[in-house]
Amino acid sequence: TQAPVNVTVTGAAGQIGYALLFRIASGQLLGADTPVKLRLLEIPQAVKAAEGTAMELDDGAFGLLAGIDIFDDPKQAFAGTNIGLLVGARPRSKGMERGDLLEANGGIFKPQGEAINAGAADDIRVLVVGNPANTNALIAQSHAPDVPAERFTAMTRLDHNRALAQLAKKLGVAVTDLKKVAIWGNHSATQYPSVQHAEVGGKNVAETINDQAWLADTFIPTVAKRGAAIIEARGLSSAASAASAAIDHVHTWVNGTPEGDWTSAGVVSDGSYGVPEGLISSFPVTAKDGRYEIVQGLEIDEFSRPRIDASVAELAEERDAVRKLGLI
Ligand code: NAI
Repeated sequence: TQAPVNVTVTGAAGQIGYALLFRIASGQLLGADTPVKLRLLEIPQAVKAAEGTAMELDDGAFGLLAGIDIFDDPKQAFAGTNIGLLVGARPRSKGMERGDLLEANGGIFKPQGEAINAGAADDIRVLVVGNPANTNALIAQSHAPDVPAERFTAMTRLDHNRALAQLAKKLGVAVTDLKKVAIWGNHSATQYPSVQHAEVGGKNVAETINDQAWLADTFIPTVAKRGAAIIEARGLSSAASAASAAIDHVHTWVNGTPEGDWTSAGVVSDGSYGVPEGLISSFPVTAKDGRYEIVQGLEIDEFSRPRIDASVAELAEERDAVRKLGLI
C-alpha cells in the first residue's frame, strides 16, 4: 500500500467540515488505494467540537484513515501537508462592511499562507472554500512565495455542479450527458455561468434549449443565487453540496478531466481572456498530470464578454481593497 497522504482541513468543526471529513476518510478524495492522515485546524474555542468529530471518524472504522491530529496553530496543522482544504473563514456578520470582512479574513489566510510556505510538503495543493474564496486564496498565495502560485485554487466547482444540475433538469438528460459548461469570474453573485461552448450529446446546449430568455433570466440567476435559495429553504447554508464539490475539485485535480471535457476552478490568471494576470478567477480548466490549466483559445461571444468582465472587475476591486489594507 501507498504511504498516507496528509490532508489538512481548516474549519474542521464547522458544517462543511462535518460533511467533508467523512468523505475524505472513506477514500472519495484521493481514491480507494490511498490512505489519508487528517490534520484538523480549528480556533481554540472549537477544538473540543473538532475532537467530537474525530471521535465519530474513529467510529466510522475507515480502513483508509491512517490517523487524525487536531491543532489550533496553523504552523503545526500545515507541517508536511500535501493537500490543504481551507474551509474555515470569517462570515459576514450583520452590519459588517466589506473592508472589515476582508480584513478579518486576511487575519486568517495570511498566517495560513505563511504556514504553508514554511512547512507544507513540496507537492502541496491548496483549495480555498472559505468566502470570499477567490480573494482569500489570493491572500494565502501571496504569503507563500516559495510555493508555485498555481497550487493555490479557489472553489467554483459547486457553482459548476449547480449549473450542470439546472441544465440537466431543463433538458431532461443526465448531468453526465453535458460537457463544457463553465463558470467565469468570482464565486459571488456576479459569477458568469456560461453555456456558450456547452454540449449535450454533441450538440450545442443553447441551440438545443432554444430559449435565450430562460438562459439569461432564469438559468444564470438561479445558479448565481443558489446559495441564498438553500439558506431560505433549509435554514442553514449549503454544506453537504459544498463538501461534495470540494471532493470533486481535488479528485479532478489529481486524476484529470476526461478527454473532450473541462471543469471550472478558481486559478491564478495568466492574463488569458483579459483577466488581469495574478487574479484568482474562475475559468474553464482541464486537469492533467496533477495540474489545472486554463482552457485556451475560446472565442468569447457578445453575450458573454460583458458578464465575464463585470465579475472580473469585482475580483480586481477585492484585490485592490486587500492591497490597501496591506494584506497582500
Ligand atoms: P461554519 O461556520 O459552520 O464553519 C466554519 C468553521 O471555521 C467554524 O468551526 C470556525 O470555528 C472555523 N474557523 C474560523 N476561523 C478559523 C481559523 N482561523 N482557523 C481554523 N478554523 C477556523 O461554516 P461552513 O458552513 O462550514 O462554511 C465555511 C466557509 O465556506 C464559509 O466561509 C462559507 O461561506 C464558505 N462556503 C463556500 C462555498 C464555495 O462554493 N466556495 C460554498 C459554501 C460555503
